[in-house]
Amino acid sequence: MMKLAIIGTGYVGLTTGTCFAEVGHRVICVDNNAQKVVALQQGEIPIFEPELEQLIVSNVAAGRLSFTMDIAEAVRLSDVIFIAVPTPPLEDGSVDLSYIESVSCTVAELITPEMGYRVIVDKSTVPVSTGSKVLQVLQRYSSSGVDVDVVSNPEFLREGCAVDDLLNPDRIVVGSDSARALDVMRRIYQPFSAPMVETDLASAELIKHAANSFLAMKISYINSVAAVCEAAGADVEQVALGIGMDKRIQRHFLNAGLGYGGSCFPKDVKGFIHVAEQLGSPMTILHEVENVNERQLARFLNRIREKMWILGHKRIAVWGLAFKQNTDDVRESVSIKLIKQLCDEGAIVSAYDPAARITGAAALEGYDVNITEDMYSCLKGAELLIIGTEWKEFAQANFSRVSELLHLPLVYDGRNILHGENVTAAGLEYHSIGRKTMMPKS
Ligand SMILES: NC(=O)c1ccc[n+]([C@@H]2O[C@H](COP(=O)([O-])OP(=O)(O)OC[C@H]3O[C@@H](n4cnc5c(N)ncnc54)[C@H](O)[C@@H]3O)[C@@H](O)[C@H]2O)c1
Repeated sequence: MMKLAIIGTGYVGLTTGTCFAEVGHRVICVDNNAQKVVALQQGEIPIFEPELEQLIVSNVAAGRLSFTMDIAEAVRLSDVIFIAVPTPPLEDGSVDLSYIESVSCTVAELITPEMGYRVIVDKSTVPVSTGSKVLQVLQRYSSSGVDVDVVSNPEFLREGCAVDDLLNPDRIVVGSDSARALDVMRRIYQPFSAPMVETDLASAELIKHAANSFLAMKISYINSVAAVCEAAGADVEQVALGIGMDKRIQRHFLNAGLGYGGSCFPKDVKGFIHVAEQLGSPMTILHEVENVNERQLARFLNRIREKMWILGHKRIAVWGLAFKQNTDDVRESVSIKLIKQLCDEGAIVSAYDPAARITGAAALEGYDVNITEDMYSCLKGAELLIIGTEWKEFAQANFSRVSELLHLPLVYDGRNILHGENVTAAGLEYHSIGRKTMMPKS
């Protein structure tokens, strides 16, 4: 059992902290958002993440997991201090490291030689060389004689299946220039069966940016292929299956759709582009990854305009607000961008999401969007339905009911999640990405 503190109790900090507690460590989660901490102390979970709530409840009850705003106490009581604060993008695409710097300064002021050895672990996604800056801060602002090392331990969890990803990861990446710190990390991860990739500090930081950019590249690649499929009358799903069965390629992340969003890919691609340029080794390939992603929504909207002509005053229903299924996270959600664009063109939009109604409403503040409590009332009076997020329940919808409620028989699937046969059997026209339009069966 190790004594761990996690600074930053968001999507990453909360799920990571909970899973560390689940494997037997004693974890103190710290946040400077009083509302969040009080809610957690009262058993309210601030995010929607499958399986998380029951793990939090059981680990709090077992005395292994607690929540506080008191960073001083957390640092005093913990051998290892994880940093899991935001690293949002700045205007120029670089990463805002002020949260990391601020926490590093606070920790530096709090650790003393009497506390003994402390390991500071960066879990936030950061540009290469951030860890060495954190170490400089610790050396500069701590009292002399403190014994401290810095580790990079990037997180690869996927929102929506974060608990499973954390408990059963593909691999665990830890990087440090200190053998002693790596030994501590081995002990923390000893209960996990995943292989551990041990690197120097800089390489671990680079692995995270390079991995996310590669996944974004796969998405943009298949979306480019989808455009060719549309022009050639081919089917991108069949193409993805055919190329994805090659072990060197793999089917994952070859899903054509409206493009990537979320709190990670857009900012991590930008961050990698920026740091590579700063280092004099531009990742020019990633500019095109971004361009393709931008064009994807524009191409989709053009297809709707071709059918509907002017979107102003058209009543449009959108299913999906979250940036992906199984989460309430709407940060950089393509569906939210789509809705905003429809509203800007004067469309009258209603929307539904199984989990992201509250976060979606906040993201759409200032936009007149009717967010409904169920998927069918969203369709009342609408001329067409757009799928913006790949929730499974959309694929399982009753399309006869959808057909009765829609004014025009039009479904635009921006995530290729529906079964065209079911949609067309209900008398609806089915438009998707990179595939031929399917006409109603009756
Ligand atoms: N969300 C993901 O899927 C994911 C996956 C892998 C990596 N990451 C990376 O992990 C980091 C955190 O992401 P997130 O999605 O958990 O962010 P988040 O915004 O959900 O959570 C960050 C938390 O940090 C808290 N915080 C900010 N400053 C603080 C301070 N000085 N002291 C204490 N708490 C503070 C905030 O109140 C918030 O609760 C980012 O670098 C992100 O890129 C995210």
